[in-house]
Amino acid sequence: VAGVGELLREAAARLPGAEARAEAEILLAHALGVSRSWLYAHDRDRLDQTQVVRFREFLRRREIGEPVAYLTGRRGFRSIELAVDSSTLIPRAETELLVELALQRLPDGRPARVLDLGTGSGAIALALAGERSESEVTAVDASAAALAVAARNAARLGLARVRLLRSDWYSAVADERFDLILSNPPYLAEDDPHLRQGDLRFEPSLALASGRDGLDAIRRIVASAPAHLNAGGGLLVEHGFEQGAAVRELFASAGFSQVETARDLEQRERVTCGELPA
Ligand SMILES: C[S@@+](CC[C@H](N)C(=O)[O-])C[C@H]1O[C@@H](n2cnc3c(N)ncnc32)[C@H](O)[C@@H]1O
Repeated sequence: VAGVGELLREAAARLPGAEARAEAEILLAHALGVSRSWLYAHDRDRLDQTQVVRFREFLRRREIGEPVAYLTGRRGFRSIELAVDSSTLIPRAETELLVELALQRLPDGRPARVLDLGTGSGAIALALAGERSESEVTAVDASAAALAVAARNAARLGLARVRLLRSDWYSAVADERFDLILSNPPYLAEDDPHLRQGDLRFEPSLALASGRDGLDAIRRIVASAPAHLNAGGGLLVEHGFEQGAAVRELFASAGFSQVETARDLEQRERVTCGELPA
């Protein structure tokens, strides 16, 4: 029967990619129900057969491409941990930039009404609600299964005050206005080859693809935003790094001012922001 250190070395050698060792540790920790730091302190411990079998099953699924976050059912996002499953996008580090920009627009202590369009696991809405307790956050999604995951996350994080609605973009909030609208919508072109690679193969296409040029959802979100914003309100939309110019144009045609695109850590255009003139 194998020891912890030996199993990890064997798994890291089998898994592809630069993250192989980290992934092996995450999966072994999950299989054993321990933390990653426990593994470092128990390098020489021997595992029983059931534990080894459980770990090898996770490894096998990872080897055929299943995302680590779907295997463990969890993903860290800013300071919170979210449950995820195959009905939700796996929250990405890029989206933390969108939350950062939203926080800058929500001064501490001043209540604001915030709308998160396409909330998935609830990542954006719950991170914001956790950091701005005075804000009133509504999150919508077209997927009932994703909303169920978001509701579980909200309850576990003590954020049940976040309102979750099933909605085709603005349909369930037709008569409402907000101070800030946020979205990380699907933005890949339907025929984008990335959809057939890596983690994306396992994620819901409703969360990833949007029309021939990938901009269908963003077009709808931006065009209807002015009707759902208070004067002076803001809109923040995440998009693909080659879509910045097109998205700024959509913002401008919808009447937004101060339209700017923020870049991610790799200096790629990622989140476009605009303000509705007062
Ligand atoms: C890229 S995912 C983002 C999920 C989450 N906000 C995040 O950043 O991890 C896009 C989300 O939009 C939702 N969606 C797609 N079409 C929609 C529509 N017509 N109305 C509302 N939500 C929609 C998908 O179900 C998915 O959860």
